[in-house]
Parts: sequence; C-alpha cells; structure tokens
Amino acid sequence: MQATYEITENIIWVGANDKKTPLFENLFPLPNGVSYNSYLIKDEKIALLDTVDAMVTEQFLENIEFELEGRAVDYLVIHHMEPDHGSNVKRLMEMFPKMVVVGTMKAKKMIKQFFTVEIEDRFLCVKEGDTLNLGTHTLTFYLAPMVHWPEVMVSYEEKTKILFSADAFGTFGTLDGCIFNDQVDFEKDYLADARRYYANIVGKYGLQTQMLLKKASKLDLKMIASLHGPIWRSNLEWYLEKYNKWSLYEPEEKGVLILCGSIYGHTLEAANALAVMMAKEGITNIKIQDVAKTDCSELIADIFKYSHLVIASATYNNGIFPKMADLLHDMIALNVQNRTIAVIQNGTWAPAAGKLIKAALCQMKNMNVLEEELTILSSLKQCQEEDLRKIAVAMKKALESEGGC
Ligand code: FEO
Repeated sequence: MQATYEITENIIWVGANDKKTPLFENLFPLPNGVSYNSYLIKDEKIALLDTVDAMVTEQFLENIEFELEGRAVDYLVIHHMEPDHGSNVKRLMEMFPKMVVVGTMKAKKMIKQFFTVEIEDRFLCVKEGDTLNLGTHTLTFYLAPMVHWPEVMVSYEEKTKILFSADAFGTFGTLDGCIFNDQVDFEKDYLADARRYYANIVGKYGLQTQMLLKKASKLDLKMIASLHGPIWRSNLEWYLEKYNKWSLYEPEEKGVLILCGSIYGHTLEAANALAVMMAKEGITNIKIQDVAKTDCSELIADIFKYSHLVIASATYNNGIFPKMADLLHDMIALNVQNRTIAVIQNGTWAPAAGKLIKAALCQMKNMNVLEEELTILSSLKQCQEEDLRKIAVAMKKALESEGGC
C-alpha cells in the first residue's frame, strides 16, 4: 500500500523508509534506519525529484503509481546521483518513455556510468540559475558541487519557497509517520544522527557547504526538503546555524572529549583520572569515549561537537593503537580542524604513540596541541599525579581563553 504525504498543495513526499539496511554506504551503522526522500510535483507537467535506494524500490513505485493517478512523469530531476537516490533512474526511464531527465552535465555522465541506457535525447542539462517551469510551479537550479558529490545541485521552488536541498540538511533516522521537523523532537531524536550524518558524509566539504549556505541565505525559505530525514518548515535558522558551525569546523559545545585507545585498561584508567582532575579544576561537559567500543562515525560526530580533545592511546606494533589510528585517519580525511588537544601515550617498552599522534594532528589545520603531555609506562603511577594535573590546568586555561568553560 502507498505511504505518501502531501507536504504542501500538489507537492507530495513519495519517498520510503529503510529500517533493514544495517550500514549506510556499507560503512555507517543505521540503528535508527534512514529515509530516502523523493518528491512529486503535480502541475500541468509532473516532476519527480530524485528516486530512492534499491532497497525500497517497491514502496517507492507504489507511492508514485498511486499519486500519479494514471498520469505520467514528465521530468525526473536528479539532484544527486549517489545510488541511495539514483538507483531507479533507468527503471523510471523505462516506465515513462517520454520522461525527460533533468540534471547537471556531471549527473548525465554518472547516469551513463551506472546504467547502460540511451539518454542523449532524453536529458535536459541545467546550469546555475536555469529554471524549469511546470505550470504554476517553477524550479530554479543552483549548483552545489561536493555536497556531497560533484554533480550535485539543489532546486528552489518559487511559489512554495521550498529548497530541495539534496543531501544537505539530511540526517539518518527514518520518518515514522511524522514528516516535518515540528512534528518530532528533533533535538532529542534526530540531532545526534544529523551531526553524525553531516560529519561523516559531508564533513570533508565544509568550504563547499559554506558556499551552498551563502546561496541559500539569498533565498526566501519557507521549507527545506532534504533527501534524508524530516522536512524543515519551522525554526530553520536553528538548523542553518548548526550547518554553519559544522561546515566552519567550529565546535557546538565547550567541553572536553577524551578519546581513549586502551588495550588492558591502563590507558583508560589514566583517562578516567584526568577526567576527575579536570572536573575538580572546574571543567564541565567532559565525555570519555573508548575508541575500541564506539563506532568511528560516532567518534567523528563527537569531535565535531566538542571544543577540546584529549587523545590517549596505547602503543601497538610500535605505532598507534589501531582503532585510534583509524580515527586519526578519518579526522584527516574529513578535514577536522580548529581544536585544542592534549596527548597521552602509553607503552610498556617503547612508547611511540604520542609522537605519531602529533604527526597526524600536524596534517590537520589549526590544531593546537598542548605542551603538557603524559607518558605512561604500562600503568599510571601516583608520582604522575602532578603531570596529570598540569594537563587539567592547561586544558582549563585553554577553555577559558577560548570563551569560558
Ligand atoms: Fe544521500 Fe550522497 O547520498
């Protein structure tokens, strides 16, 4: 049976929810599932905005068949060709032989790469500022390269003032009946997933996201309809500001995130001792994450959230504890920057993690590594209490000099 939702007169959500796929991009855990949003604009001409992931094709087809009421799709607008949205392009082209596919030149190239399909005579290539009139609705296209692939564009519907924003402003998490941000407790039920989605999927492309935000700031926005998660129709400024901070690599919160890679628990013991000491120094908002037990995508999301970090790692194979090495690799790949960090290393015969962690941090922009650091030989000793306190005091000072704790 169809499960559709009219978001405004003659614009209908015809996407689908996916609670089965365990890993997004076969990488990122989906404990709360994900939605693939697709929108149908019913006017003199009918436009379908994007398709959905292959996993939910049947639901999607039922939805559009029901809403079309016997009519055909005139235009399939491709904002983004990643297969979580583009999987059904060929199928739609077969279902509607007169349908024209609309997208950027790069999208056309990708369609030909993903599918064996004759598209030359059926593709309308659009550029920045081009429009598509459907009758009473008109879409204006804006390029948004690398948010999150190079072919991406967004579109603005002039009558309803809806920005169809591709992956931007998306989040993990299914739409369980409620489809608008003001029908859900977004901060409680979606924000962590939205941050995890942004940081891991789009995080590398902060500059490009900033460019998109600048374009969006010139539009009169009533709604933002992303390809994932709730549609925003109220309090848009709040979410735009989150995106502004994330894409500038500015922390959302003052606080200390202690990332710990421990083999037998001795490095974790030092992390705990430091956390207590920092709390006694007056620091609030401290969180310890065991990098071996928490998925890397959650750690990355926390790194985007917190202002200050402690990286505490055991030495392993004369290098960094593997899960910590993976995290540092991701931090470099995702362009993490603008953080203050303290480093703790542990080693039983040749501690080497600290030097390598600092070398990795050197590959990131504007990472302020505190001079105060600690080396543990197997386990933390009482005589090292003062060294630990020095880190806590330096961290407090850093928090205060950067706007208070
Ligand atoms: Fe939701 Fe980049 O695809």
